[in-house]
Amino acid sequence: MLINKPIVLSCIQPTSEIHIGNYFGAVANWVDLQESQKYSCIYGIVDLHAMTMPYDSLHLRANTTGMMIDLLACGIDTEKSILFIQSLVPEHTELCWILSCFTSYGELSRMTQFKEKSEQLKSTSGEEFEESVKLKSSKFISAGLFTYPVLQAADILIYRAKYVPVGKDQEQHLELSRIIARSFNSRFGEFFPEPTPLFTESPKVMSPADPKKKMSKSLGDKHYIGLFEEAENIRNKIKTAMTDVGPSNEMSHGVANLFEILKACGKDDEASELMKDYDNKTLKYVDLKDAVSIALVKLTEPFREKRKEIKSDKEDVKKKIQEMSARAREIAKETLSEVREMVGLPKKHVW
Ligand code: TYM
Repeated sequence: MLINKPIVLSCIQPTSEIHIGNYFGAVANWVDLQESQKYSCIYGIVDLHAMTMPYDSLHLRANTTGMMIDLLACGIDTEKSILFIQSLVPEHTELCWILSCFTSYGELSRMTQFKEKSEQLKSTSGEEFEESVKLKSSKFISAGLFTYPVLQAADILIYRAKYVPVGKDQEQHLELSRIIARSFNSRFGEFFPEPTPLFTESPKVMSPADPKKKMSKSLGDKHYIGLFEEAENIRNKIKTAMTDVGPSNEMSHGVANLFEILKACGKDDEASELMKDYDNKTLKYVDLKDAVSIALVKLTEPFREKRKEIKSDKEDVKKKIQEMSARAREIAKETLSEVREMVGLPKKHVW
């Protein structure tokens, strides 16, 4: 794949399961951007980022391969996009160190995701983590969690990406990437483009069980709907999704979220019809839930099939991982050697 168009870059952590929030907020857009043929698309699975929260080292590699399979099943096509694994491109970590020397401690301290995640770690009994890390998980807040956004900036800037399709939760990290690019450029001359985030129509899908919170795997099973979950599970999670908590004149978060999911499935007409019923106060939530379940199951069915097919050829997946990561590395190496020279280090790794 040639890198001859504006570069789109985005990444995902290799948690064991991709959920519909990841899909509607980001991955569906990755596929659309790839198919538009207007961009050179580079997508990554960031296994190094996954080490910043309690994790099981025995599962990380399998989860990373699993995420590769999931993304291929979602429609990322390695003939059209580069799909790499972060730890196979060590230039990311080297650039991260260099950029961290041009990132202020104050800026990093403002990151709300660090505050939220460190609060979560402080208050947790570890229940939400995998069995093997439950005990070790609690109360330990790593420096990696704090410097995480600099590695994210390195992921983006090493490809000198212009556009970054992400969910709304990543907006602040993107702003920091822009600040870091600016800080570097002001010192060494215009080199990194300031990356622009690209959002979908559903940039923040909420938890079905607690719709005031963002859909997230780390909150526990009932808080997310896996993209590859069995149809029966999807139906159950929608059936038990929270709707109204009490009488109110405003639409509740839960109902709004169900409407958002229905629209994200491409069912705008159906959503408008049901919205009319809502406005007329005749909507039965069971009808809204039925519509959402049917739409989700239908949308995800082909993904489940595709994943089975991809999973059956492990060698091909492995080959793609190797080839794609090597391709990403060629680009990353070029940027890094220029950066090394600019900041006063030897251009190549020789004296
Ligand atoms: P991650 O792995 O948490 O999520 C991957 C993508 O899914 C989006 N997303 C959501 N969108 C809508 N509603 C939700 N409930 C929801 N949950 C997740 C995220 O915004 C993201 O786009 N820090 C990043 C990974 C990363 C990255 C990067 C992203 C590392 N380096 C460079 C872009 C560019 C993260 O943890 O995403």
